[in-house]
Amino acid sequence: MRHFLTTKNWRLLLAILLFFSSNVFSQNEIIGNVNARKTFSLNGKWQYIVDPYETGFYDYRFKERNINDREAYWSTDIPTNKLDRKEHQYNDKYLLNVPGDWNSQDPKFLYYEGSVWYKKSFDYTKSNAGNKLYLYFGAVNYKADVYLNGIKLGTHKGGFTPFNFEIPDNALKSTNNYLVVKVDDKRYADEIPTLNTDWWNYGGITRDVKLVELPSAAAIRNYAIQLKPVVNTTEVEGWVKLDNAKAGEKISVEIPELKVKKEFTADAGSAKINFKLPTTFQRWSPENPKLYNVVVTTAADKVTDKIGFRTITVDGKKLLLNGKTVFLKGISIHAEVPQEIRRAYSSKDAAMLLGWAKELGCNMVRLAHYPHDEAMTRMADSLGLLVWSEIPVYWTIDFTSDAVLEKAKVQLNEMISRDQNRASVIIWSVGNETPVSEARTRFMSTLLKTARGLDPSRLVSAALEVDYQSEKNLRVIDDPLGEYVDVVAFNEYLGWYGGTPEACRTANWATKYNKPLFISETGAEALGGYHADAGTLWSEEFQEWYYQEQVAMLKRMPDNFTGISPWILADFRSPRRNNATYQEGWNNKGLIDQHGRKKKAFYVMKAYYDSIKN
Ligand code: GCU
Repeated sequence: MRHFLTTKNWRLLLAILLFFSSNVFSQNEIIGNVNARKTFSLNGKWQYIVDPYETGFYDYRFKERNINDREAYWSTDIPTNKLDRKEHQYNDKYLLNVPGDWNSQDPKFLYYEGSVWYKKSFDYTKSNAGNKLYLYFGAVNYKADVYLNGIKLGTHKGGFTPFNFEIPDNALKSTNNYLVVKVDDKRYADEIPTLNTDWWNYGGITRDVKLVELPSAAAIRNYAIQLKPVVNTTEVEGWVKLDNAKAGEKISVEIPELKVKKEFTADAGSAKINFKLPTTFQRWSPENPKLYNVVVTTAADKVTDKIGFRTITVDGKKLLLNGKTVFLKGISIHAEVPQEIRRAYSSKDAAMLLGWAKELGCNMVRLAHYPHDEAMTRMADSLGLLVWSEIPVYWTIDFTSDAVLEKAKVQLNEMISRDQNRASVIIWSVGNETPVSEARTRFMSTLLKTARGLDPSRLVSAALEVDYQSEKNLRVIDDPLGEYVDVVAFNEYLGWYGGTPEACRTANWATKYNKPLFISETGAEALGGYHADAGTLWSEEFQEWYYQEQVAMLKRMPDNFTGISPWILADFRSPRRNNATYQEGWNNKGLIDQHGRKKKAFYVMKAYYDSIKN
């Protein structure tokens, strides 16, 4: 036995144990408010290997390589001697910026869909040897297999939500750690989203990467601290979840500016939070986006967050923000910087996109069709923009598959776990334009119930389908999913997909649901800078006419009409848009064009919003 347990075999034994344990718990619970923790950024230049045949993951018989396979791309690329054949090597000739999609960083990647291996070397010593260490990713599109020094930390699927893996002590070296991430963005029918979308499949490590240290005991893993969803309440409720807490662990929640400090006891790792704010507290709103420092403390940990307190509720047909009817002057946004044709990921990108929304006169943004970077929701908190946040259950998902439903639930949980303390977020959306069927309504209503269970303080919705009853020129939103949502939202393109804009003059809208009614999309394309008469498709004048007719129609909407988020703020890339004169791989429905210039239609919507006083 003693001879068997040589160093090499110890590592092998340990690697095997870790492999199974990490795969079983490969999706650790998200560390909330990660930027307020002790972190070490791994952003910057990473070396890469493009691997369309996944040679680094499968052997020549296409069998998954085992963890200590020396030809695996997670194994060292350094030959041990002059005769040691290595057919993979990470080299500074091949570098990608992280965060960032690969498509925008090199012409060879523009249409690439497949696997790319990223590698980063780093030195690190924990600030306190007893602390636990985690590796956190803001997002990786689509599947990430993560290895550190030849040990697999875990696998994550889902292109737009954060995840973190614990780094066991024996996987970390003080110098020259060998971090390898296999990113695969191939599309599949049984994933979320599915094969078919109207946006560019930007692959890569698209958001921040950082090491995070937490105390070994009584660490604050995550928390939810929000006003109860009751009009005029001053009552805050929620929870705090701890790692490795003893029974009876004390937790305090403090809001210094309001002179509030309450203590709670954690049982089995979590504590219910419930206390009252002084009646003098300022409610968060677009007009007054007041954020308070909230300090959560345990014997070993302390986290400060900026949280706004507001209520968002529905009363019959009315949408109420802090008990007052609110009209959503919205705009839909893709997480893309049009001028640089790349995924948005930074506070600077968020400031530009949300700055445009503010210029348009918006008090709301629909972050389509997937959770955007945390910088967007935190910027919306600060700027006073209400947010509709959505998981990419988009179009024809495989609604009959329980496995696909689980994948959607994982992404829903990750979206809510990250942003459940953002006052700006008022609506969790579980999808967009999913075709009506028994299976689909069961799938989507399950997601709606799951969202409510994860976060009772917000509303839930989805972009529904419209039933056009041409004989009465009536357009009825009677999608069976309307039964399960708080806000009945639907997409309409009257005058672009079917008919011309004057069809708006005789169109009437109705819904069978006694709930707020929201237009989650409407829009028409215009090639920025292309001018002609209003009757010429693709011109800015046509798009302007489209919006003029739409705005006139909005004035005749039923009394439960509670707002609109036109499609879309800025032109965006889509492989579905192939008119070689007016599109060339762009969906040009933006009110702002590919160069960041406002089109004529921008001013039609701005005038409409400026005319509405909330
Ligand atoms: C759909 C869909 C969008 C798409 C838009 C369009 O409603 O929700 O993702 O881009 O229409 O056709 O431009």
